[in-house]
Amino acid sequence: MRIYKLFTGGVIDKFDFPISTGKEGNVYRATTKDGELRAVKIFRTSTSTFKDMVKYVHGDPRFGGLISNRKKLILAWAEKEFLNLHAFDRAGVRVPKPYVHKDNIIVMEYIGDGVEPARELRNVRLEDPEAIARKILDYIRLAYQKAKLVHADLSEFNILMLNGEPVVIDVGQAVMLSHSRSGEWLERDVRNVARYFKKYDLAIDAAAELEEIRRE
Ligand SMILES: Nc1ncnc2c1ncn2[C@@H]1O[C@H](COP(=O)(O)OP(=O)(O)OP(=O)(O)O)[C@@H](O)[C@H]1O
Ligand SMILES: [Mg+2]
Repeated sequence: MRIYKLFTGGVIDKFDFPISTGKEGNVYRATTKDGELRAVKIFRTSTSTFKDMVKYVHGDPRFGGLISNRKKLILAWAEKEFLNLHAFDRAGVRVPKPYVHKDNIIVMEYIGDGVEPARELRNVRLEDPEAIARKILDYIRLAYQKAKLVHADLSEFNILMLNGEPVVIDVGQAVMLSHSRSGEWLERDVRNVARYFKKYDLAIDAAAELEEIRRE
């Protein structure tokens, strides 16, 4: 029904193909009525294992709340990803532009060309790795200083390369600086970048970068 409403609401004209099918959800390429490309991320609110669980839990008065909580958690997650996309965008971090959020579905800018979706950082050979690493570290700093957010799952898996430029994706888990573990996760993000760029023989001083990010 929600997907149907995306159609009737004029957001999407057709779904083209799945870009990625994961455990928590799928990402599809879709086309609007105006012929523009979009990425639609649909979070699964019920997995097959979950359906098996429901059989045994549904109707048991002790566990009535668990189902709705799980669902609520996933809906909150989708909303969080949508809000985080806006916040990263406003802070100057290159992310897919968020367009529409409805329950467990997010419609955002499609990162890719007419032929294929952009590749993840881990699957491209960079011409100027130093410039790309610099840009990613700048994005971490902008997110921290302007959006007050830590991505918390930043790696070569969650950065797409579009026309030689990095685009940060998968921001659902990003947390505010007020989160008790934001410091730890910021460090992990920066160390992930430093670790990845070692394969290009770049020596990134994670401690110095962290100090720069935290300075304001
Ligand atoms: N806006 C987009 N445009 C093009 N491709 C995208 C877009 N968003 C996501 N993708 C593709 O879909 C994949 C999965 O997206 P994302 O990382 O946001 O979802 P996920 O649920 O966390 O999946 P995973 O567990 O695989 O990380 C990405 O690695 C990327 O290849
Ligand atoms: Mg991902």
